[in-house]
Amino acid sequence: MSLPVLLRELEAFGQSNDSAIAERPRRMLNITRDTGELLAVLVRAMGARRVLEIGTSNGYSTLWLASAAEAVGGRVITVEWSEFKCGLAARNFERSGLSEFITQVQGEAGALLQSSAEAGFDLVFLDSERSEYSAWWPDLKRVLRPGGLLVVDNALSHAAEMAPFVALVAADADFATCTVPVGNGEFLATRASA
Ligand SMILES: C[S@@+](CC[C@H](N)C(=O)[O-])C[C@H]1O[C@@H](n2cnc3c(N)ncnc32)[C@H](O)[C@@H]1O
Repeated sequence: MSLPVLLRELEAFGQSNDSAIAERPRRMLNITRDTGELLAVLVRAMGARRVLEIGTSNGYSTLWLASAAEAVGGRVITVEWSEFKCGLAARNFERSGLSEFITQVQGEAGALLQSSAEAGFDLVFLDSERSEYSAWWPDLKRVLRPGGLLVVDNALSHAAEMAPFVALVAADADFATCTVPVGNGEFLATRASA
């Protein structure tokens, strides 16, 4: 199946599923299409070959990242703790033809961050449990290479929940930050390259 057709199918599925189901573990909670387009542009512009995604769900955002990573000779590692959602994502990756550019990890994101190498990623996309972000910050910072980019979803849709984390990162002299009013609001933080 072509990627554009699959992406449209997943958008329709996410909208109908999430409007019908209240139980959060069964909701897809996908990024918006324009956020996917932004992520793809960022990966390509940076030549980001080592991409980490925290929060796979059924793989919609992963497909945007992976298609761009493929174009620059890179790949994506994506972590999700829900077995149900990992299964959905695996099927979507197979259908997309992008599986070889994606490494799926079923597990807890904090543990994956702790075990990841220093400066091991060019771009990290964070779309997971917002209450954990501040605790993850030391490892997020450690795994980003100098000049690397952190992108965090829901900066505007959940601004109050995000506020402590945004303040923490904005106060870090090693990072330059901004919030982009695309989709649910994307918080961007880039690590000084020297
Ligand atoms: C907002 S959804 C991700 C949506 C996905 N990025 C997309 O746009 O298609 C957040 C996901 O993070 C997962 N999650 C939450 N906390 C986690 C944790 N500590 N470790 C791993 N996955 C986690 C949830 O199960 C959920 O599927």
